[in-house]
Amino acid sequence: MSNVAIVGATGAVGRTMLSILEERDFPVKELRLFASERSAGSEVPTRWGSVTVENLATADPSGLDIALFSAGGDRSREFAPAFAAAGCTVVDNSSAFRMRDDVPLVVAGVNDHALAGHGGIVANPNCTTMALLMAVGPLHRAAGLASMVATSYQSVSGSGMAGMDELVRQNATLGANRQGLVDGSWQEPGDALYVRPIGWNVLPFAGNPASEGYTDEEWKLVNETRKILQAPHIAVEPTCVRVPVMVGHGIAATMMFDRPLDVAEATAAMAAGRGVQVWEDRVPTPLDSAGIDDVLVGRIRPTIGRPGGISLWAVGDNLRKGAALNTVEIAELLIA
Ligand code: A2P
Repeated sequence: MSNVAIVGATGAVGRTMLSILEERDFPVKELRLFASERSAGSEVPTRWGSVTVENLATADPSGLDIALFSAGGDRSREFAPAFAAAGCTVVDNSSAFRMRDDVPLVVAGVNDHALAGHGGIVANPNCTTMALLMAVGPLHRAAGLASMVATSYQSVSGSGMAGMDELVRQNATLGANRQGLVDGSWQEPGDALYVRPIGWNVLPFAGNPASEGYTDEEWKLVNETRKILQAPHIAVEPTCVRVPVMVGHGIAATMMFDRPLDVAEATAAMAAGRGVQVWEDRVPTPLDSAGIDDVLVGRIRPTIGRPGGISLWAVGDNLRKGAALNTVEIAELLIA
């Protein structure tokens, strides 16, 4: 039995972490919940009794065994090292430590072996990389991934509660002027979460500007894929797009391998893995993925421009496998 903390417990991912700990009957001795001063003192009903949310700023991590962090990179940078120094293993959902050489970056079911010898902090990959690698991991093992062109279709819950609130608000305000959406007379909704409105729209820009004209989300897809697959030479060409979807990140990917890979072998490799459902006669969508643990893979096709590769579509619940579920799976591996 472990003393477990959720840091960012009142957020979109933190709440999902709690329900997944409950569903999976995680062996919790004591559960502690941390958030900002704003939520401190509120009561959260859990299967281990009612828990009072504590202020992270004044947290005393003594006695904790495992802390699942999802309160943003700044909070992770500020507080995770102190939690780790107090003897607790931190599983961090932010990007703060992902690329550090001494921090394992783990997709449970794909590279569990990387956990060995961790130094107190383990990183959870980015939600888009996670869904994609559930499909790509088995293909890489089978034939060696050489290159990948990947375009994501990312839901607003990837931006937390604020993203979901903004989509609902903009769908209503912009949708109230249906003709304006047709003839261009729609009015700017005046919100600032994204670079352009997300209601009734698609934003070919997810994340923040980074180097070479790419966003940080796009660089995560490149760097995290290489780290998780232990293959720094893989050529990744990413485009990250935000779509007006509540939950579920989809990725369309075209891949070439060290040897030709056909659809039958690719399908068999992915279907054999835990946590992946291959849909051959139905089209998997974000709505199908919402609330479930498995990543759904469909539209598996042979490349036609340059034969020998595979194109596919993968979609997963970004709050579950993309975030909370994987942190809990890592915690399960840690206590096993
Ligand atoms: P709070 O609800 O008190 O603001 P989301 O990204 O879904 O909005 O969730 C963010 C999570 O991170 C929430 O639990 C939020 O708590 C927490 N959080 C945000 N800022 C801080 C902070 N400065 N200190 C502690 N927790 C924070």
